[in-house]
Amino acid sequence: MTPADRPRRSCLTVPGSSARFLAKASSLPADELIFDLEDAVAPSAKQDARALVARALAEGDWAADRVLAVRVNAVPTRWAYRDVIDVVERSGERLDAIVLPKVTGPAHIVWLDLLLTQIEQDRGLPQGKIAIEAQIEDAAGLAAVDDIATASDRLAVLIFGPADFMASLGMGSLTIGARPEGYAGGDAFHYPLMRLLVAARAAGLQAIDGPYAAIGDLDGLRVASVSAAALGYDGKWVVHPDQIGPVNAAFSPSQEQYERAELILEAYEHATTVQGRGAVLLGAEMIDEASRKMALVAAARGRAAGLTRTQRYTPSEGGLAPGG
Ligand code: GLV
Ligand code: MG
Repeated sequence: MTPADRPRRSCLTVPGSSARFLAKASSLPADELIFDLEDAVAPSAKQDARALVARALAEGDWAADRVLAVRVNAVPTRWAYRDVIDVVERSGERLDAIVLPKVTGPAHIVWLDLLLTQIEQDRGLPQGKIAIEAQIEDAAGLAAVDDIATASDRLAVLIFGPADFMASLGMGSLTIGARPEGYAGGDAFHYPLMRLLVAARAAGLQAIDGPYAAIGDLDGLRVASVSAAALGYDGKWVVHPDQIGPVNAAFSPSQEQYERAELILEAYEHATTVQGRGAVLLGAEMIDEASRKMALVAAARGRAAGLTRTQRYTPSEGGLAPGG
């Protein structure tokens, strides 16, 4: 499985300055853990947090399938280079990815790629082992998102950062991820979410939605998560353990969707290989090659979420589509 294929339905950010939170993280069912050295850590605590995070990664009891990442400080800050060097040198064996915040252009990605290459060479780590996840969270980053998405083979994920993005644009809300009150159009986040998603998919990357900070508002979280999942996103950041369950559920297909996806794959395989047809009826619906592609995505997500089949395709369910 490539870094861009690993499930990232829920990505829990854990403040790197809290030994207690770091210790608790291994027992939580988030697909990815992101140990944060950036905005959740005060400037005076940055240095100690680096050491805490490196130790937690190197010594913690981490399940092999868990994606482990560290968010370093942004490239223009004085902390960035040492964050990368200290963390990767000390815990590169287990680390899967560096999350790079506030990426405004491809130069940020190239800088990190070169630095990681040097550390991997020096430490005898496989070349390209550490993936990059880029946060797109201001006007400059979104304007350059296509160039950012193709700046390095290490890139696995683009992440939307609503808080910094809202600040960058001057959006009228003070709650991270919440819709700006008074906006008379549709969804104020539709454009950046779609723009990022298109850039990610064109480059073969995952697209992850950012955090929803109103921890007590699980209904609002569900609406935001289901909406991002419906658009095509792979997952969402979470900032509290209570958010993990609803977000995992939102980014997993339902049993019904999963069964349908598997049926489409089987029916289409039968149609093309046994019947020699490219468009057939499955129940009352026409399916063709495009249906197969959509079904592949839902079936892969369902399998990754641990769903299993209860139905099998029987050729009598299929038929010849009009004009097929
Ligand atoms: C996350 O980093 C955000 O800015 O929303
Ligand atoms: Mg941010």
